[in-house]
Amino acid sequence: MELYNDNPTIDFLKSDKKIDENRQGEAFKEIGEVLDPKKKNFYIESYGCSMNFSDSEIVASILLDNGYQPTKNMEIADLILINTCSIREKAEDTVRKRLRIFDKVKKNRPGTLVGVLGCMAERLKKKLLEQEKLVDLVVGPDAYRDLPKLISTAEDGDKGVNVFLSREETYADISPIRLQSNGVTAFISIMRGCDNMCSFCVVPFTRGRERSRDTFSIVAEATQLFNNGFREVTLLGQNVDSYKWENPETKETVNFAQLLEAVAKVNPLLRIRFSTSHPKDITDEVLTTMASYENICKYIHLPVQSGNSRVLGLMNRTYDREWYMERVNKIYEIMPDCAISSDIIAGFCTETEEEHQDTLSMIEFSRYIISYMFVYSERPGTPAAKKYKDDVPHETKKRRLHEIIMLQGKVSLETNQADIGKTFKVLIEGSSKRSDADFKGRNSQNKMVIFPKVDGYKPGDYIPVLIKKVTSATLLGEAQINE
Ligand code: SAH
Ligand code: SF4
Ligand code: F3S
Repeated sequence: MELYNDNPTIDFLKSDKKIDENRQGEAFKEIGEVLDPKKKNFYIESYGCSMNFSDSEIVASILLDNGYQPTKNMEIADLILINTCSIREKAEDTVRKRLRIFDKVKKNRPGTLVGVLGCMAERLKKKLLEQEKLVDLVVGPDAYRDLPKLISTAEDGDKGVNVFLSREETYADISPIRLQSNGVTAFISIMRGCDNMCSFCVVPFTRGRERSRDTFSIVAEATQLFNNGFREVTLLGQNVDSYKWENPETKETVNFAQLLEAVAKVNPLLRIRFSTSHPKDITDEVLTTMASYENICKYIHLPVQSGNSRVLGLMNRTYDREWYMERVNKIYEIMPDCAISSDIIAGFCTETEEEHQDTLSMIEFSRYIISYMFVYSERPGTPAAKKYKDDVPHETKKRRLHEIIMLQGKVSLETNQADIGKTFKVLIEGSSKRSDADFKGRNSQNKMVIFPKVDGYKPGDYIPVLIKKVTSATLLGEAQINE
């Protein structure tokens, strides 16, 4: 997943949102706006990967159907929810800190319920109730339909707990409420869970078995988003390349390449992105499908984790350095303009200095436009925690991470410099954070492009932009409009 967030996401109640037709006016209230006094208010914060943010939109939908309305002011909430991440120890620490803050709110407003959702709820289960006295609800990622029942249990003074992991649940029929939306880009969950068992990773334990969502419901959601003015969807799953859905009537199966094609055909003006691709599963069929549709973005998030084959073996990633390099070569062969990004772990168990050098050389080889880089954090219960010693000293891990970050910064800058003088089709997402006189948007390669606003153009429009200057994070340009 590409979004790692250590900050709460509560700025979702803006009034200029385009949302599901049947929800118009219901979901988003300006702060200060009068909330319906007959309804109960919920407040939600999300942490972790895009999957979690997408799940919070499902949760919001379920709550709206049960008489709740969202607020971004936790002081007036009847229900405070935190959708949590367990991927690294730090992610869990952040959640515990937020719970301390909620505790204060609860003391001022007795009766407020506090619920922990998501991966940390699933990992710790009832233990969380012992560790965190203020928590009233513990709800795992497959149990959100049960929320209304769990809330009434908690209102009666008991604790509401459901951490049952399902083999079927995909929430296919629930129309998500677009929290935090810019009205242009949206996430669509296409599968849940993960069957891969990378040795360092907690996700198979917190999200359960992999299952794919009904293709028709995905295409229908993309169509509805397009009709509501959205112009870009990101198809989400821990391993999108293993998407496989069997039509119960025809018994035909749909693979990821076919799903991509089906969504690409919704409308040529709807851009398609996806995340995350697993190097062992990304097929030539996916690459050629990407190449055949202009609206499938030329960008692949292809986490390598380590550039060394022995370490990759210990990680149980099931590919080696050579396999990964072959996939990268194939991507550039089929789509010379494609951008690749990565996730990298520094200092996995027993990693030597030489093996770390292999990770550095992989960054140069793959020409990642960006990487999400972490020090290895041992997670209780994972295969790595059981089998290997977390024996790389923290100082060494940090130094290796620093080297990785420095090199990636240099490569990012170089790949951006190579874009100077090129013109890209940019989808306008909104005003630049720094200046209201500028628009921000992305090119197909997922690079952020900033350029002075042009009359007659608005978020959701495509515009050609000539790149004039770059930093390691952004392309700066000028729109190319024939007046
Ligand atoms: N499904 C995605 C990854 C999801 S987790 C994939 O397979 O690529 C996001 C990233 O967090 C991982 O790619 C990995 O780089 C990092 N990560 C996962 N577990 C970790 C751990 N125990 N310590 C440090 N980083 C970890
Ligand atoms: Fe974790 Fe591996 Fe699954 Fe990604 S593919 S979620 S790293 S187990
Ligand atoms: Fe995502 Fe964190 Fe769970 S990365 S799947 S929210 S452990």
